[in-house]
Amino acid sequence: MKTLDIILKVFEYQDLSELDEQDRSLVQQAIEAARNAYAPYSQFHVGAAVLLENGITITGNNQENAAYPSGLCAERVALFAANAQYPDVPVVSMAIVAMKDGQLTETAVTPCGACRQVMIETEVRFEHPIKVILYGKENILVVDSVRELLPLSFTSTELKS
Ligand code: THU
Repeated sequence: MKTLDIILKVFEYQDLSELDEQDRSLVQQAIEAARNAYAPYSQFHVGAAVLLENGITITGNNQENAAYPSGLCAERVALFAANAQYPDVPVVSMAIVAMKDGQLTETAVTPCGACRQVMIETEVRFEHPIKVILYGKENILVVDSVRELLPLSFTSTELKS
């Protein structure tokens, strides 16, 4: 037996002003998307903005349902919409924010496991790393690839091996 130490590289920022213009804009678009979330049950409004290689941004937000499991997270709404409309265009980056009682969360919001699985599928599909920006008022976490959020992931490679 041996131990495998998995090292994940996550950058932490304190303020939006530390990000470049493109990333700041993506966060702003995610905030706008969060305002339009349909979250009457959790009151937790999540927004995601996906930047494509062709410069187009697609946004999404969580869509809840009285039959709870029928709802969908913001990240998957945005990614599925992007992939549905631009099936040949890689996703290059993605910003995620959340609001509670109309206020952005203090700490960076991190995507659920199911969303991470969909995010890595997109990354593998286009063979292009996706930079992920997780926004919070007190800290902003950035990873250069979804692999940093989902180590030991199950992808199409496993199906082939
Ligand atoms: N939610 C997201 O939209 N993204 C996540 O990564 C975590 C959770 C949504 C699902 C549900 O509508 C609400 O937040 C509370 O879980």
